[in-house]
Amino acid sequence: MCGIIGYIGARQATPLLVGGLKKLEYRGYDSAGVSVFHEGTSRVVRCRGKLSGLEDKLVREPAPGTVGIGHTRWATHGRPSDENSHPHKVGPISVIHNGIIENHLALRAELAASGAQFSSETDTEIFAHLVSRELATAPDLTTAVRKALVKVRGSYAFVVMSDKEPGTLVAAKNSSPLVVGLGEGENFVASDVTAILSETRKVIFIDEGEIVTVKREGVTITDFDGKPRVRDHKVITWSAVQAEKGGFKHFMLKEIHEQPRAVADTLTGRVDLERDDVTLDGVDLDVAKIKRVVFVACGTSYHASLVGEFLVEALARLPVEVDLASEFRYRDPIIGPGDLVVAVSQSGETLDTMEAVREAKKKGATVLAISNVVESSIPRLCDHAFYTHAGPEIGVASTKAFTTQLVAMALLAIYLGRRTNALSREKARALIGELVQLPQKMRDVVETGAQLQVLARRYGNANGFLFLGRGAQYPIALEGALKLKEISYIHAEGYAAGEMKHGPIALIDETLPVVVLVPRGPHYDKVVSNLAEVRARQGKVLAVATKGDTEIGGHADDVVLVPETAVELQPILTVLPLQMLSYYVADGKGTDVDQPRNLAKSVTVE
Ligand code: F6R
Repeated sequence: MCGIIGYIGARQATPLLVGGLKKLEYRGYDSAGVSVFHEGTSRVVRCRGKLSGLEDKLVREPAPGTVGIGHTRWATHGRPSDENSHPHKVGPISVIHNGIIENHLALRAELAASGAQFSSETDTEIFAHLVSRELATAPDLTTAVRKALVKVRGSYAFVVMSDKEPGTLVAAKNSSPLVVGLGEGENFVASDVTAILSETRKVIFIDEGEIVTVKREGVTITDFDGKPRVRDHKVITWSAVQAEKGGFKHFMLKEIHEQPRAVADTLTGRVDLERDDVTLDGVDLDVAKIKRVVFVACGTSYHASLVGEFLVEALARLPVEVDLASEFRYRDPIIGPGDLVVAVSQSGETLDTMEAVREAKKKGATVLAISNVVESSIPRLCDHAFYTHAGPEIGVASTKAFTTQLVAMALLAIYLGRRTNALSREKARALIGELVQLPQKMRDVVETGAQLQVLARRYGNANGFLFLGRGAQYPIALEGALKLKEISYIHAEGYAAGEMKHGPIALIDETLPVVVLVPRGPHYDKVVSNLAEVRARQGKVLAVATKGDTEIGGHADDVVLVPETAVELQPILTVLPLQMLSYYVADGKGTDVDQPRNLAKSVTVE
């Protein structure tokens, strides 16, 4: 997830671009850069690191001019470096990009075969080459961009500038946000209204599959076939702070709603619908040598790992252990060659997980990182790294980082299962088919927010909560309890449903809400029995079940329904109502949802 901005008008572009990028820096700060047109050519100034680095560089290398584009990067393809910073310039074309080009490897090979030379590892530079080539025969920049887009698969918002047509910026959108800001004799384009709100409040939100040609005098919108689209502008009344949160009250709520897009990005380029297989980017494991998989992680990432255990055992039939990183490192674990240790850390900086990685490496295991932050410390330390591409998560309580970790677990399990031959091609095809439908199904669930708001009011005054689940839903019960306690400060326990009768059942009375995860699947009847045990003791039951389940209403006080999917993928849907319940309970109590007391986003102490 990157921040992008473009300006065309009569004022100096660079201060406006840098001012906009300051508002976008929360989207990524691996590098920043601008390209500004002046006296026949555009000048690119860019550098690795935070925006302040670019500001210093611009003092030494000023970029005058009244047309320009700017970018702040959150690395996906290619490590954070000066060369991989945007804008990318090829011939007369400068490009900035937010998103992922799914078929970048094939396009790079094709372009290289016809003589293209690359100066970065990014997928974005490929698009600069494509537009530059099309421009040789196209009548204008908009046509060249349209022709180049035909070749590109993936999620993107691009902004393109040409030295041959300096009075025009061309932007295109597919799955990544894009907004145009309208001024007097000047116009803006950006990934976020935040970036332009101090300059104009008149905006047009660009829709999927639209190309917008931005000139000083006005903007023209067409679809990818060149057919005009007529769109009205909106006047933004949000404050700058609200705008940064996309109009949501908190970053956590925004990030809950971003999950369908985040999961789509995790899947982009990783599923092969023709070969019924998955790729883990550059990760190439010697699967025949793997005798055991050991997950090490903390907190929410530990819960994702417990789901990983279920998935890898079920699909790859490899033995799996899951350990809290802080325990693993201190108990002289029995580990060695033949073990694949998977270190799961959204931040990639958690000290306990990092030390667990060191311990595993010392003992000769192969170590794979699953992280959300490219080139963070843990992936750098590991033999292999797989990134979830959820975009920066600002709310301290993990939401989109968690669901994208679950998707990464499913991809890893399918990858291993196909290579151990435990997973048939038919079953892999069915699972991949379900995976690609998840973003839409997740959208359906996050739209049930109003119901969760009502339930949060109904149950939010309780002194404690119990969360129950079996199989892959057990870690989701743990995660539901963690989410609630960390942001609402209400005590909550997550339990394996079958364990309830061995102790926690003593807690149950009419004051204890019990959230039971009971989607359709092999454990359904057993969990319904556990649920009956709760109700027989006057416990209040809130069930999370599968759409179309007409039976469950008779066993629960309240029911939240999620769409049907494969049993292995159900956790990705059932966790969503729990995140929303926690959010609305905490918000009702007025706690600091995004920065709960005593917590930090990355825990770099033991
Ligand atoms: C809870 C949460 C934490 C983290 C934990 C590990 O919402 O976010 O429990 O999961 O601190 O962090 P990472 O995944 O960055 O290693």
